[in-house]
Amino acid sequence: MEVVKTVAAVRAARGRFPMLGLVPTMGFLHAGHISLVERAKAECGAVAVSIFVNPTQFAAHEDLGRYPRDLPRDLALLEAAGADLVFTPGPADMYPDGFQTRIELGPVTEPLEGAVRPGHFAGVATVVAKLFNIVQPTRAYFGQKDAQQCVVVRRMVRDLDMPVEVVVAPTVREADGLAMSSRNAYLNAEERAEAPLLYRALSYGEALFAEGERDAGMLRAAIRERVEINPRFTIDYVSVADAETLEELERVDRDAVISLAARLGTTRLIDNVVVRAG
Ligand code: PAJ
Repeated sequence: MEVVKTVAAVRAARGRFPMLGLVPTMGFLHAGHISLVERAKAECGAVAVSIFVNPTQFAAHEDLGRYPRDLPRDLALLEAAGADLVFTPGPADMYPDGFQTRIELGPVTEPLEGAVRPGHFAGVATVVAKLFNIVQPTRAYFGQKDAQQCVVVRRMVRDLDMPVEVVVAPTVREADGLAMSSRNAYLNAEERAEAPLLYRALSYGEALFAEGERDAGMLRAAIRERVEINPRFTIDYVSVADAETLEELERVDRDAVISLAARLGTTRLIDNVVVRAG
């Protein structure tokens, strides 16, 4: 496994791999990230992983300063998972003096996370486009955990004819259902015990859908009610939206993402399930 910090070093290494998968991350890796690395390795024969806590996707009041980091641990996990190349640039490698270009998408970035985190998806799209240009992967792997991010990246790749295949892999969960996230490290013991309520609420919505409920308003209300059982959660949104456009649905007559975001103490948690019509 080769660990490199500069764009030039990635370019120099790239020629060694006829097919290369890329897993972009912000580090503090967990089993969700590792599942993407293992899948990329299995499908492409070689995998590059980027670790970069991207400042441009954090708003001023967000958690950039306290975002968890542990590079030695991350590198040990990646070595064990069979990573071939790890790219760990610093902010000045990615955004040298004079940097001024941004990729902004349209309506898919407006609702949900985009509404609560203005500018977030321009930061994500720009850094992901840069990583695609730097690494030039055959395929890039993203987690369903960040549903809107997957929609945004797929849209960007299609709209700008980027020569990369986007693969979205299922959300990896703790034994009690909590979606794995680097941000779970912020939860204290009590909050950690309460956090699985979000997935239980989503699973309840999924079960209602499976029993035939197609009224999106009913599904949203049922999920919201389940979360509100615990007053310590503050809900940002509960959404039942078209899986491709992210427009809120009235009736679930096509593939949909049921998603929610809620704050628990100082930690913001997101999760989702996908339901398929027909
Ligand atoms: P990060 O939050 O580190 O996540 C890196 C990748 O791991 C993303 O594709 C994310 O969806 C995936 N992932 C996170 N938790 C997961 C889980 N429980 N199961 C499956 N996959 C999971 O997402 C980012 O970083 C950044 O926005 C990035 C794309 C790197 C751009 O800066």
